[in-house]
Amino acid sequence: MQSSFYGAKVFANILLAATVVATLFLTLQFRGKLLTSENEGPAGYSANSTYGHELISSENSYECINPYSQPGFIWMETRNTTDNTTWVPFYSGLLDEQFSQIWDTKGEPVDKIVDDTRYFPNKFPPNDLLKNAPTQWFQLLRQYKKMRDAVSTEKSTGRKTGYTKIIRELEKQLYWLQNRSLLVVGDSADGTLISHLCNSLAADLDYEPTNGLDETSIGTCNIREWNLTITHWQLGCVGYNCSSSAVETPESIDQKWDRYFIPTSDSVVGQNGASPDLVIFQSGLWSEQFFVNRYREYVNRKIIDYSRTLNFNELVLYTRLLRRTISKLRDLYGYQVPILYRTVTLKNTVHQDIAALNLDSAARYACRELDIEIIDFGWLVRGYYSFYSDDVNIDEGPLSALWANMVFWYLFRSQGGVEVRGDLVRMPDMDMTNVGAWDMCHDTFMKDLKIRS
Ligand SMILES: *[C@@H]1O[C@H](CO)[C@@H](O)[C@H](O)[C@H]1NC(C)=O
Ligand SMILES: *[C@@H]1O[C@H](CO)[C@@H](O)[C@H](O)[C@H]1NC(C)=O
Ligand SMILES: *[C@@H]1O[C@H](CO)[C@@H](O)[C@H](O)[C@H]1NC(C)=O
Ligand SMILES: *[C@@H]1O[C@H](CO)[C@@H](O)[C@H](O)[C@H]1NC(C)=O
Ligand SMILES: *[C@@H]1O[C@H](CO)[C@@H](O)[C@H](O)[C@H]1NC(C)=O
Ligand SMILES: *[C@@H]1O[C@H](CO)[C@@H](O)[C@H](O)[C@H]1NC(C)=O
Repeated sequence: MQSSFYGAKVFANILLAATVVATLFLTLQFRGKLLTSENEGPAGYSANSTYGHELISSENSYECINPYSQPGFIWMETRNTTDNTTWVPFYSGLLDEQFSQIWDTKGEPVDKIVDDTRYFPNKFPPNDLLKNAPTQWFQLLRQYKKMRDAVSTEKSTGRKTGYTKIIRELEKQLYWLQNRSLLVVGDSADGTLISHLCNSLAADLDYEPTNGLDETSIGTCNIREWNLTITHWQLGCVGYNCSSSAVETPESIDQKWDRYFIPTSDSVVGQNGASPDLVIFQSGLWSEQFFVNRYREYVNRKIIDYSRTLNFNELVLYTRLLRRTISKLRDLYGYQVPILYRTVTLKNTVHQDIAALNLDSAARYACRELDIEIIDFGWLVRGYYSFYSDDVNIDEGPLSALWANMVFWYLFRSQGGVEVRGDLVRMPDMDMTNVGAWDMCHDTFMKDLKIRS
């Protein structure tokens, strides 16, 4: 029972977007997985939660495991593919796993260990490899979109797709995205990731500059099928004046917020009717750019030096700005709205990026002190520079897919969903009775938080 269950799960995880027949089969497996979880569930799981329509009865009903903070690796089925790319936490069987025959009986090599035409022995991932991998929400959304589009052209082309049943199954998994609102506060790196997400679901990210210099802007996209809204507030030079190169006091952040973002903040409303359902923020790269530029002027050099360690003043100022940003967000939407800090993505440059690492370490520390969880995207993608489209922005591809999957993992959780080792053991409610689920694992996840970047 156990092994066939996991076998089905491996299928479900890796063959998500395969052929029609395969997909139908898989979707049923996935559904089976949900139902299995209701009845059995892992140890410590309360049998009283039925498909997300009951309150969590006890604080300790579920194990709190964040797959994205487990050691693991980014699994790409082939190089540079968006499909099926996922974070794979290492699993307990890894140390005993069998590899394919590399030597013959005389000890001569018969296979190249680096052969990537045979990614796995027997052309299939070992049973346990993808078992704990988090749900690929982004892949499911793209699959849904594709099938919906195909079905909507059925009438004009007269060709039956037979997708209707799969679409209905996907709707059962994705229903919780309805009317949700995500607010991402940060820089252009966030804007780029959001636009990849929106584009691939055929939604446009519309930008409105909010000041004449284009330093700050507000971007919005709505994924129509789910009325899921993603809003991007680009902070730009907040904390610094880019035209005069002047450092501003941390308090001056308030003026910019009041002028550029607060006037529209009421319109960022999700399922709870009062605020975004999840906020993710990041603010490192502009600060770094400001510091390194000022340093270049100060030492009168042509070349920017990214290998310099920030001095104490810079660290203190940055931390102050970060703290101010967090308190602006909390003042705006209240403490009950989950806020995440997205860790810094390092630059794709031949230079080092020490200042960014310093800022990120400071931010991690500040977040621990201020009770803010992190979404550690920057750490997971460190070194994957060939997937950038320029020095700072990530291209559409495996990394942007990973980002989207991560964001949805946290949004799912913020809505009361619980996923444990790749199993969806609790689905969110639409009536918002279980949003307290965020708090259930918050303390555990705060304890797991990596302080060193
Ligand atoms: C990965 O996704 C692609 C495209 O949807 C699909 O053709 C392929 O079969 C998938 N591979 C696996 C191993 O699931
Ligand atoms: C489920 O909840 C009911 C009512 O609160 C309780 O009587 C019952 O013991 C619970 N069952 C389990 C398996 O926890
Ligand atoms: C979309 O969701 C928002 C937030 O819940 C809601 O205010 C709005 O009425 C919804 N729009 C539609 C068309 O359902
Ligand atoms: C989404 O919002 C609209 C408008 O407020 C409402 O009519 C609809 O029932 C909501 N959908 C869900 C699933 O809550
Ligand atoms: C930034 O500096 C410029 C030039 O000194 C000044 O004109 C402008 O008002 C400053 N901007 C803000 C927002 O303070
Ligand atoms: C990945 O594929 C995209 C689209 O085909 C291409 O633009 C990009 O250069 C590729 N990146 C790598 C690292 O191969």
